[in-house]
Amino acid sequence: MSLQTHIVGVGGYLPERILSNQELSKMVDTSDVWIRERTGITQRHIIAQDQQTSDLAVEAAKQALDDAGLTIDDIDALIVATTTPDMVFPSTASVVQYKLGGKDFPAWDIQAVCSGFIYGLAQADGMMRGGMFKRVLMIGAESMSRIVDWKDRNTCVLFGDGSGAVVLESREEEGGMIGSVLHCDGSYRQLLMAEHQHTRHEPGKPIDFSMDAAGVAAIEMKGNEVFRVAVNKLGEVVGEVLDKYGLQKSDVDWLVPHQANIRILNATAKKMKMETGHMVVTVGEHANTSSASVPLALNHLYRQGSIQTGQILLLEAFAAGFAWGANLIRWSKS
Ligand code: UT7
Repeated sequence: MSLQTHIVGVGGYLPERILSNQELSKMVDTSDVWIRERTGITQRHIIAQDQQTSDLAVEAAKQALDDAGLTIDDIDALIVATTTPDMVFPSTASVVQYKLGGKDFPAWDIQAVCSGFIYGLAQADGMMRGGMFKRVLMIGAESMSRIVDWKDRNTCVLFGDGSGAVVLESREEEGGMIGSVLHCDGSYRQLLMAEHQHTRHEPGKPIDFSMDAAGVAAIEMKGNEVFRVAVNKLGEVVGEVLDKYGLQKSDVDWLVPHQANIRILNATAKKMKMETGHMVVTVGEHANTSSASVPLALNHLYRQGSIQTGQILLLEAFAAGFAWGANLIRWSKS
C-alpha cells in the first residue's frame, strides 16, 4: 500500500489575556449585543507584550509533540502558516525551530491568511505521500491584534490571537488525510487586506531613506462583500472536496470550519445538512484567529474526546486573496 499522512499529535495555545466585548465597547463605538448578534463573538485572546507569533507557535507545537509522544528530534520538516510573522525575514518557522531546539531540518512559512493551515496540510500531505518527509510539524499561529486598527469598529471586534498545531506522520497504513482542494482568486484581493509598506517609496520618485520610512499594516475589509463571497465559495468547496473523493455529505462526522463569523459557519452547516452538534464552534471564545483558527478548533474537538477512530472530518477555510480550500481526513489517531 502507498504512503498515507496521519495526524499523530494535536495541540493548541491561547494567550492569557482575554479582551471581552464589554471592554471593547469602551474603546470603540460598539456593543456586546451588536458583536454577539452579528458575529457570535463574545471575547478574544490577546498576545502579551513580550510575546511574538513564534512564542504562540512554540506552545502549540510542544503540546502537539507531547501528544504524539515525540520530540523535536523526531521531526523532518516544520511549516508555520502565518500572516503575522515575527519579522519580514527570517521565517517564523526558522525562529520556532530554534526555540524548540531543532536543527538542520527544513522550516518555512506559508501565507494564505485564514486558509494557511488548510493550504499547509495539503502541501505537507503531498510532500509526505511522495516520500519526501516522514514527520512534519504543521503549525498555524497568529498575533492578529498587532495588525488590527483598534480605532476601526468594523474590523477590531473580529480578530484574536492564538496558535494550533498537528504532528503528521507518513505510514503505509489506511486512514489519515484523504485529500484537499485549494482555490485562489486574486481579483478579490482589495476587499480584505493589510497593506504593508516596506518603504514609503513611490514609483518614479527617489527612495526615502529617513528613519520613519518603515511602514505599518492594518486590516481593511469590505465586510459584507467578503461575507457574501465567503458563504458562496465555502458552500461550493465542501461539495467539491466530497465529490472529488467520492464521499457524501452524510459521510462527514465533524465539520471543522474556519471561525470568522457564526452566521458563515451556520450557512455552511445548512448547506451540508449538518446537525449543528457536529460542527465545531469556537468563534465565541477565540474570535477570528486567521490561520490558527482551524487547528485551534480541531484541538478543541480533540481535547473534548469527541473524535472516534475512523470518523470523517472536513476542514475548511475562506481567506483574503481570496484564498479558500478544504481538507478531508479519516481520523486514524486512537
Ligand atoms: O476570515 C476571513 C474572512 N472574513 C470574514 O469572513 C468576515 C466577513 N464579514 C462579516 O463577518 C460581516 O460582514 C461583519 C461582521 C464584518 C459585519 O456584519 P454585517 O452584517 O455585514 O454588517 P455591515 O457591514 O453591513 O454593517 C451594518 C451596520 C453598519 O451601520 P449602518 O451603515 O447600517 O448605519 C456598520 O457601520 O453595522 C455597523 N457596524 C457596527 N456597529 C456596531 C459595523 N461594525 C460595528 C460594530 N459595532 N463593531
